Amino acid sequence: MPANLVVGAQWGDEGKAKVIDVLSKDTDIIVRYQGGANAGHTVVVKGKKYVFHLIPSGVIYDDKICVIGNGVVIDAAYFLEEVADIEKEGFDVRGKTYVSDSAHLLLPFHKLIDGAREDGSVDGKKIGTTRRGIGMCYADKMMRTGLRVGDLLNLKTAREKLEHIIEEKNAEMKALYNIDPLQVDDVWKDLMAFYDLWKDRIINTSFYLNEALKDGKRILLEGAQGTGLDVDFGTYPYVTSSNPTTGGALIGSGVSYHYLQKVIGICKAYITRVGEGPFPTELHGEEGEKLRKLGGEYGATTGRPRRCGWFDVEMLKHAIRVNGLNAIALTKIDVLSDYDSIPVAIGYELDGKRLDYLPSQELDRVKPVYKFFPGWNSDISGINDFKKLPKNCQDYINAIRDLIGVPVHILSTGPDRDHTIILG
Ligand code: IMP
Repeated sequence: MPANLVVGAQWGDEGKAKVIDVLSKDTDIIVRYQGGANAGHTVVVKGKKYVFHLIPSGVIYDDKICVIGNGVVIDAAYFLEEVADIEKEGFDVRGKTYVSDSAHLLLPFHKLIDGAREDGSVDGKKIGTTRRGIGMCYADKMMRTGLRVGDLLNLKTAREKLEHIIEEKNAEMKALYNIDPLQVDDVWKDLMAFYDLWKDRIINTSFYLNEALKDGKRILLEGAQGTGLDVDFGTYPYVTSSNPTTGGALIGSGVSYHYLQKVIGICKAYITRVGEGPFPTELHGEEGEKLRKLGGEYGATTGRPRRCGWFDVEMLKHAIRVNGLNAIALTKIDVLSDYDSIPVAIGYELDGKRLDYLPSQELDRVKPVYKFFPGWNSDISGINDFKKLPKNCQDYINAIRDLIGVPVHILSTGPDRDHTIILG
């Protein structure tokens, strides 16, 4: 049976969780494959809002299995808190969730160093991270000095590894950031709390997932962040430290590529980003504020106001290329209901010359070329039948489809599960 994949096509916060929730209905196993508690996935069911950071939102379905893949970085203390919060709402998490033995553990010094670097204590440069320690944990993974979930299955060697790691990190923190040393026992306590509750749920998830696919199970791979934040294909260095793109989904889950069927790119009908970095169609001042208010664009993880701008076809074409997207979900179209005219960037110019693709350098210097579409000036929120959308709205959606050459599979007209239109 197939594995379908949901990828962010912009700079994250595209409404992936809502689409994942809708698609989870026809899925057996939902897999989170990268990122960590930097993500904030919001799902609204019958008017009630749930926010997930590390746990796949599929846990709110009774009959689904959730998997946290090897590509995810897990802050054990945070993970336990999130599980407790979800279980308080009446959902069983532990009984339905497996954690990869190869996922890396994000430890307190990762967050301390992330925060210190953001405060400018090194070179004064800011990425605008979520301060959740993500980059530092992935750096240790690449340095081959990280502690993995599976290490906990041998407590003696895990403790020895941790002692060695903390000795090194304490020295680094003191020398570079003037941060007080961490005590091994404090860090160990959190890890043991995680171990006690989760030791039976730690498995080789790649084996589990490929066997499940062979047995006819349907899998949904769930990405966090988006293509614009990909460490290779995003706006480096203003990116996250993982690969939210299709390659990262395979690496971060261990699912074999030949099972991949639908690769769905999620994009909002406009664009937002949080943190620093170039953003060609960004709206400033009152215009930006208007879109931010209409869309309720404040971060689910940090509460930061998101930067807002117009839809960018060139950016989406980039996402289609690097991810192999074969379908699109267009979210938050209802937010555009209050405009007489809706600009869409259909390309870029740099120094007066038209570009054929989104450049990896100098994106801060490109000028978007806009095409203007007539607005529909009526409230479309909650409409779940394409034919009931105003003609100008239908034309806008069809025009986007024609500009990108990929079918629009899902439309979202509001936050609730029911505010959805599935198109062929
Ligand atoms: P980090 O992932 O915390 O290291 O942050 C790096 C960049 O990615 C910053 O610009 C963050 O604002 C951005 N970022 C990380 N996670 C998300 C997300 O879930 N949505 C939107 N932006 C994110």
